[in-house]
Amino acid sequence: MTENSRRPRVAIVVGSLRAESLNLKVGKSIAALAGDRLNVEIARIADLPLYNEDLDPNPPAEWVRFREQIAQMDGVVFCTPEYNRGVPGALKNAIDVGSRPPGEIVWAKKPAAVISVSPYPIGGFGANHQVRQLCAFLDMPMLQQPEAYLGRVTPEKFGADDVVTDQPLKEILSKIIDAYVAWLSLTRARSDV
Ligand code: FNR
Repeated sequence: MTENSRRPRVAIVVGSLRAESLNLKVGKSIAALAGDRLNVEIARIADLPLYNEDLDPNPPAEWVRFREQIAQMDGVVFCTPEYNRGVPGALKNAIDVGSRPPGEIVWAKKPAAVISVSPYPIGGFGANHQVRQLCAFLDMPMLQQPEAYLGRVTPEKFGADDVVTDQPLKEILSKIIDAYVAWLSLTRARSDV
């Protein structure tokens, strides 16, 4: 087994579809900062058809691809904007797609963290807690601390490769990653018992 294959696999699910998304930049920064400890991949949600129970007997290929990707993960980190004090529709749709069919919920038992990112001071608190509420129902153990409502985040805080260059933001992300990595290994060790 290689060093690389021993690292936990973690999906970053980004709630914004925007090419220049601040949340995507935070997701890419996490991938860069945690690359020595986690195998991080950004899970694509932009192409997921809207969830519709009528499609369950013959699910769209994009649903199948997304469900298979998440099912293979050891953990999930949600990076989400706040839309109108709530969770963006695209992210809610992705969470719904992964929650069906009943009994095959790909999210269940996957240790999660939620990071909300906004240019505004409240930092997406409302969306963050809506995602936490969904995760509670989906039986995802949640990293509780540090809470991650990242406000006043602007494009200037990232380099040309989208990785964070602003030192205070880098330190905040590093603390979140350290806590998540430690807690992920604790949760995985417990589930091995
Ligand atoms: C927003 N924005 C926003 N910001 C916030 O902090 N609280 C909010 O409730 C809202 N509401 C909202 C609704 C809609 C429809 C849009 C398009 C935007 C602003 C939002 O934080 C900003 O556009 C972020 O840059 C979006 O995240 P990404 O795309 O940069 O990741």
